[in-house]
Amino acid sequence: MNAPTSPKAALPPNIVVVDHPLIQHKLTLMRRSRTPANEFRLLLREISMLLAYEVTRDMPTEMTEIETPLTTMQAPILAGKKLCLVSVLRAGGGILEGMLEILPAARVGHVGLYRDPVSLAAVEYYLKLPRDISERTAIILDPMLATGNSAAAAVSEVKAAGCQSVKFVCLIAAPEGLKTLHDAHPDVPVYTAAVDSHLNDHGYIVPGIGDAGDRIFGTK
Ligand code: URA
Repeated sequence: MNAPTSPKAALPPNIVVVDHPLIQHKLTLMRRSRTPANEFRLLLREISMLLAYEVTRDMPTEMTEIETPLTTMQAPILAGKKLCLVSVLRAGGGILEGMLEILPAARVGHVGLYRDPVSLAAVEYYLKLPRDISERTAIILDPMLATGNSAAAAVSEVKAAGCQSVKFVCLIAAPEGLKTLHDAHPDVPVYTAAVDSHLNDHGYIVPGIGDAGDRIFGTK
């Protein structure tokens, strides 16, 4: 039997494992191979909303004067850089839905990458980012941080477009992927619901959830 591991001491810095009972419960339901696509999508959406809460924890606020029905007061509103959610096609769309519920004003970008089945290298086939991404914090979304090749390539694209503040959100990370991403982009914090044991010979995370795209869209 394969248990997920969270060897926090051995992980690179900048990794936030969002270890919350609600998230862990929902992730367990997602891991089950019998969970159908409609339930899987809903669970991913719910977990993504909870991850959105954590990844935005350090967003700066500033005080503004407002009128309540009773009086005027100084109250906090979001300040500073705006957000751009960048979905790595196609499975990133599963996280994007939940994130947009919490962050409806965020702009959205897409990076299309597929894994070469032999070399496991990331191959880009699509890129669309907002023009003003250099003025935004980008949150890159991909459920599975496996080899880390796609993640590192997506971060490189976003940085090449001028973005100076990048975060990465996934559902499950493999230690190998965390290391690859950290080695390429040590400035990029990673938010994940779990760190699993390892990658198998095909680059799948074990114990994992299988192919995230197939499970979200019911394809096989
Ligand atoms: N991509 C997936 O969808 N699943 C994995 O386990 C690894 C990469």
